[in-house]
Amino acid sequence: MVKVTDANLFFLAVWLSRAIAETPSTGTAPPRRIAVIGAGIGGASAAHFLRQHFGKSVKIDVYESEAVGGRLATTSISGQEYEMGGTTIHPLNLHMKEFVKMLGLKERLHPDNLLAVSDGEEFVFEESNWFIVNIIKLIWRYGLDFVRMKMWVESYQHRFMKIYRYQAHGYSFTTMDKLLHGLGGDEFVQMTKHSIDEALQKIGIGHRFMDEMITPIMRLNYGQSVNINAFVGMMSLVSAESALWTVEGGNKLVCSGLLYSAKANLIKGKVTSVESKQRPLRNGEVVTFYEVNYTAGPDSGYNMYDIVIVAAPLHSGKSEIRFHDLTQPIGGQYQPMVVTLVLGRLNTSYFGHRGPFRPTAITTTAQSGSFILGASVTPPVAPDARPPSPAPARVWKVLSPEPLGEERLSRLFPTGHGAMREARWLACPRYSPADVVPPFVLRDRLYHLSAAEWAASTMEMAAIAAKNVALLAHHRWFQRLDKIDPDALPQRLKTEL
Ligand SMILES: Cc1cc2nc3c(=O)[nH]c(=O)nc-3n(C[C@H](O)[C@H](O)[C@H](O)COP(=O)(O)OP(=O)(O)OC[C@H]3O[C@@H](n4cnc5c(N)ncnc54)[C@H](O)[C@@H]3O)c2cc1C
Ligand SMILES: *[C@@H]1O[C@H](CO)[C@@H](O)[C@H](O)[C@H]1NC(C)=O
Ligand SMILES: *[C@@H]1O[C@H](CO)[C@@H](O)[C@H](O)[C@H]1NC(C)=O
Repeated sequence: MVKVTDANLFFLAVWLSRAIAETPSTGTAPPRRIAVIGAGIGGASAAHFLRQHFGKSVKIDVYESEAVGGRLATTSISGQEYEMGGTTIHPLNLHMKEFVKMLGLKERLHPDNLLAVSDGEEFVFEESNWFIVNIIKLIWRYGLDFVRMKMWVESYQHRFMKIYRYQAHGYSFTTMDKLLHGLGGDEFVQMTKHSIDEALQKIGIGHRFMDEMITPIMRLNYGQSVNINAFVGMMSLVSAESALWTVEGGNKLVCSGLLYSAKANLIKGKVTSVESKQRPLRNGEVVTFYEVNYTAGPDSGYNMYDIVIVAAPLHSGKSEIRFHDLTQPIGGQYQPMVVTLVLGRLNTSYFGHRGPFRPTAITTTAQSGSFILGASVTPPVAPDARPPSPAPARVWKVLSPEPLGEERLSRLFPTGHGAMREARWLACPRYSPADVVPPFVLRDRLYHLSAAEWAASTMEMAAIAAKNVALLAHHRWFQRLDKIDPDALPQRLKTEL
């Protein structure tokens, strides 16, 4: 006899919900063509999930004006490739893990760095190779603040993990607020409406820990202060853990891999406008579709789609797509961040350091007045990489709000430097607790995946948003409204079994 365990029931439910999700009950014909705008991790995972939910027959076009991968990109120094954009992935980022496994790629553990925090005058905190020494140092300087912070982060992370169960059951949400509400009620929604500063003060985190640990992490990850919303702040504190990993050969391989496996058609071009059009049918019905215009070099073209998914920030300077009849404007700004890779010997004395300690990662406090946000020794993406030249010259990744320029570079690397590469990003939203996270649905059958970025900008959030939008597009097309914005989700999961 088959034993009925919770696990069995769970898998049965997953299987059933998939079976239901993929068998449209209304007799509606499936869409013929879907456009995805952007081939970063968001657009590439959207193509993957669209194929999964809409089946084999739909034609999926993915538009990309720059390189596949978007903010996942590598560059070469001394014959080795290094990540220039999104780098580390958390062990609990289940979509990213699943993609890597499915595509036959490999995870590589990201090496832990020896961290030092500079306040401009000196290193106020120096990490040791010894775990126990670090604990003693942390308690000595900050009391139990790091324990409080860790417990706080874990309580949210635990609830956030529910998203995978909901998505496996085929549930989708029309706004980030509703998604967050489904995971953790009002408390979760409020996270995007308060600053991380406020949230941590409420649990009793002191000023010193805030200035010397939390602020430097926010600077490093987002180039911003502790005035960013508590949700994105929490996400980056999660990423301050160990056991982080990257994709061997470069994270962007996930994007090209997903496009390939989804049999998506890549159109190298820049989408300039999306306009809804109506066409009367012979039987008197009217069908609505979207006309997507694009330019590719000197050429231009256009195509018609049943569904359009925008997987790029809708933002001046970011995507520049014209929509003709959108009611709500998409506001907000993106934060510039410069990544400079330098082969050389970083003068740690410049940060006030004396003595033999040699950190491999430096963060800076807001009061430091430093022109860098942080710097760390960075590993190449290839597996068999030898050091690029005799130690102690190493490849440093320096993050700064503005380009460094030769003068500042020579202050950091006084003995000169080898090869240098620079990437200027509009890295992530410029967060403020007053932000309104835009909806996923711009119009009927026109979706905006990147809306999720206004709650938090990470690879995994883009993948979660992609799955959500693919489900949403599916359910709205086939009128499966019971699968959209459910309330009291746990109760419903129970009755489904
Ligand atoms: C320096 C840096 C470090 C980061 N570190 C991490 C990290 O360690 N871990 C982590 O999880 N995340 C990290 N992130 C964030 C992460 O990289 C992003 O959240 C993620 O890559 C965003 O993916 P996306 O697909 O939503 O957007 P994008 O990658 O920006 O993709 C959008 C794509 O759309 C294309 N596009 C835009 N407009 C048009 C148009 N009109 N027509 C056609 N194509 C268009 C763009 O060219 C782009 O390729 C980092 C980001 C930066 C910049
Ligand atoms: C899109 O291209 C078509 C064909 O060239 C053109 O008729 C139409 O006006 C364009 N739409 C927009 C909004 O530019
Ligand atoms: C490193 O920086 C310190 C402090 O700015 C400076 O005194 C020292 O001369 C620098 N080292 C070298 C090799 O230039």
